[in-house]
Amino acid sequence: MSTLEQLAKEAASCTRCDLYQRATATVFGEGRPDSPLALVGEQPGDQEDKQGHPFVGPAGHLLDRALHDSGIDRADAYLTNAVKHFKWDARGKRRIHQRPNGTEIMACRGWLEAELAVVGPRVTVAMGAVAGEAIFGRGFRVRDHRGRLEEITVGGWQGAVLSTVHPSSILRAQDNDAREEAFAGFVADLVRAREALAA
Ligand code: URA
Repeated sequence: MSTLEQLAKEAASCTRCDLYQRATATVFGEGRPDSPLALVGEQPGDQEDKQGHPFVGPAGHLLDRALHDSGIDRADAYLTNAVKHFKWDARGKRRIHQRPNGTEIMACRGWLEAELAVVGPRVTVAMGAVAGEAIFGRGFRVRDHRGRLEEITVGGWQGAVLSTVHPSSILRAQDNDAREEAFAGFVADLVRAREALAA
């Protein structure tokens, strides 16, 4: 069994915070195990929790389009989340995403550190405020970091982090024009990450 498979197996019984109690699955990272590029999201959504894989729901479909447009092959990257369990609230029959709090983000950080140490990407893309908080710590704001390549040490991993928006924020844009503009900005950030790898 590879080290990543071993970590995923251990994470499957994680009780470091309470989120495991209401989640269907621990959704661990997936992708190329020695990828030079890691993408970190927030937490699994409703679909990811049901299917047990990261970025397979609506945000994942948008991410797939953005990766395609930026010239990145999803199969060549390593995709994971800052938090491995879906945090949700019931609204009727629907399960509505809740933002993980600082304690939950920090409880899960050890898994992210371990994944980065094993995969060893040269560039990690932090998508959204929760991914940024997991990597840079409390007080992280996307607008203060966005689009910059910042050298950082996270646990046993050292590399560059490029922060950008979360794909779900693009889905929430007010109208088509705003959505297209936000999507173009997201693609531009991903292109910057790809170019940093080629440099
Ligand atoms: N949003 C995320 O941050 N991660 C997923 O896996 C799905 C939606």
